[in-house]
This record gives sequence, structure tokens and C-alpha cells, in this order.
Amino acid sequence: MRENAQRLELHGEIELVDTSRKLLGRTTPFVGREREIGTLEAIVDECIAEPVTRVALVTGPGGIGKTRLRNELVARLAERGVEVWAGRADSMRTGSPFAVLAPALRRAAGLLESEPLEAKRRKLRARVARHVRAEDVPRVSEFVGEIVAVPFSDEASVQLRAARRDAVLMGDQVRRAFLDLVVAETRAQPLLLVLEDLQHGDSPSIELVDAALRTDPEKPLMVLALARPEIHDRFPRLFAERDVQEVRLGPLTRRAAERLRATPSPSDRSARRRWGASSSAPPATPSTSRS
Ligand SMILES: Nc1ncnc2c1ncn2[C@@H]1O[C@H](COP(=O)(O)OP(=O)(O)OP(=O)(O)O)[C@@H](O)[C@H]1O
Ligand SMILES: [Mg+2]
Repeated sequence: MRENAQRLELHGEIELVDTSRKLLGRTTPFVGREREIGTLEAIVDECIAEPVTRVALVTGPGGIGKTRLRNELVARLAERGVEVWAGRADSMRTGSPFAVLAPALRRAAGLLESEPLEAKRRKLRARVARHVRAEDVPRVSEFVGEIVAVPFSDEASVQLRAARRDAVLMGDQVRRAFLDLVVAETRAQPLLLVLEDLQHGDSPSIELVDAALRTDPEKPLMVLALARPEIHDRFPRLFAERDVQEVRLGPLTRRAAERLRATPSPSDRSARRRWGASSSAPPATPSTSRS
């Protein structure tokens, strides 16, 4: 019952438990995409080994398999002690401030919509305290609280009071808090930040993530953004200064499509149609490119 409630509340925020592989109780295999997942794994490997910050952008039309690829990557990283923060931008809130970063942070802290504000504050503080130095925990919690819409009282906090009267100061403090949090996390373990459906995302999130990639780049932070191709119209300079690796998903290869056809599942029928598995024309080979 409780678990159900939690699942419902997390709807719109990413389920890290991969439900897509089980359709009608059957496990559907992950087919093809060897090159794409290999590219992403190589980026993660480099990010951890150096360490160095990295960003990848997976693009492709609806239903082509972006989320499935992300699920597969996260599953492969499960054994490697990588912390995953995953947020999905909701089409109902396109462009609203922190539309994509807030869900990722809320999920990382386990915040639920229905719980009282005080419970959310407590959870957020506890999550921040996991790796942030004790003396910074109040400040970092208060300003990360501004990102995730968990407002802290400013009665006892001069910094929060001042920032609430000055938007520029607020922006600076929020950025500093987010960077402190990410630096502390990446000192403890590699961090994968997933930004799903970024075509519905927002500039404040992207700017903060960009700052996290840029500041102190020798840390194991990997950003994985996934979006439909219109992302380039919405954010033409997305991570442009960060050497972003774009992975473009096209239709599956014929062999992969055939393997999928060999394990039919009613829910996958429409996806197979989209990939052209049953069309007579040879499916295009998916491509990756650096931009
Ligand atoms: N490589 C694959 N192997 C097996 N099944 C796949 C593969 N890629 C996608 N699918 C299945 O196809 C369906 C649609 O894929 P998915 O949800 O990943 O698309 P998407 O690109 O994320 O679409 P959207 O832009 O709408 O979010 C899902 O049921 C998924 O499990
Ligand atoms: Mg998707």
C-alpha cells in the first residue's frame, strides 16, 4: 500500500527500477544498440578512471529507445557503486525553473509530495549531510531547498533572509550550494546525473548542471541528457562549451529488429512498427557523432 503510494507520487520522476523490461510479466530483451551503449559506457569509464566530468546527449524521436538505453546503462552501472540521480522534465511544466533538476534531487533525497514540509526538510538535510561537511549542511540544505521547493525558515538564517530579498544573491547561493553538494558526492563515489526528456527542461537547471561540469572538472560526474531532436531548437547551445558527445538514435538494425520480432509482446508492437522492423526497406544504421 505504502509502496504503491510512493510509486504513484514518483510518477513523472524516473523509476530507477527498470519496469520497461517487463511487459505483461515477460522480460523483453534489450536488442541492438551495442555501439551506443558501448559509447556511453566508455564515457562513464573515462569519467571514473581519470576522474573527469563528462556529458553525453542521447537524441532521437519518440519511442526510438532513449529511455530503454538509459535503463540498460543504469542496470550495467548498478554493480559499480555509481550514485544515480535521475530526473525527468514533465511536459506539463515545460521550461519552469528547475523542471528537470528538482525531480532528480527530490528523488535522490526520497522526498514525497504528500509528506509535511518538516518531514521533507528533515529528509533533505539528512541527504545533504551524507557527504557534505557538517558545518555546511544547514546552508547547503537551505539553498538546495530552494531548488526542490522545500523552503526552509529564514528566521535563524541571515544568508537565506538576505538572498530572499535579492534575486542575484539567491542565484549565487543556490549555485554554490548545488556545487558543494555535487563536489561532496563525487568525492564519495562517481555520480551519474540523468536528465530525461530534456526537451521539456529549463535553462536554470541546464545552467546549474553546466556549472557543475565546468567547476573543478577533475571529478567523476557524468551527465546523461536524453531528449527528442527538437532539443536543438529549444537549447541551440546546450552544453556547447563542455564538449558534449551526442549519440543519435535511429532505427534499429535489421538484425536487432529481427531479434525483437522473435520475442513478440503486444505492448511492443507499436514500437516495432516505429522502428520499421517489418518494413521491406533496410533500416538505417544508427549513428553517433561528436558535436
Ligand atoms: N533496444 C531495445 N531493445 C528492446 N526493446 C526496446 C529497445 N529500445 C526500445 N525498446 C522498447 O520500445 C519502447 C519505447 O522505447 P523508449 O520508451 O525507450 O522510447 P523513448 O525514445 O524513450 O521515447 P520518448 O521520446 O517517448 O520518451 C519501450 O517499450 C522499450 O522497452
Ligand atoms: Mg523516453
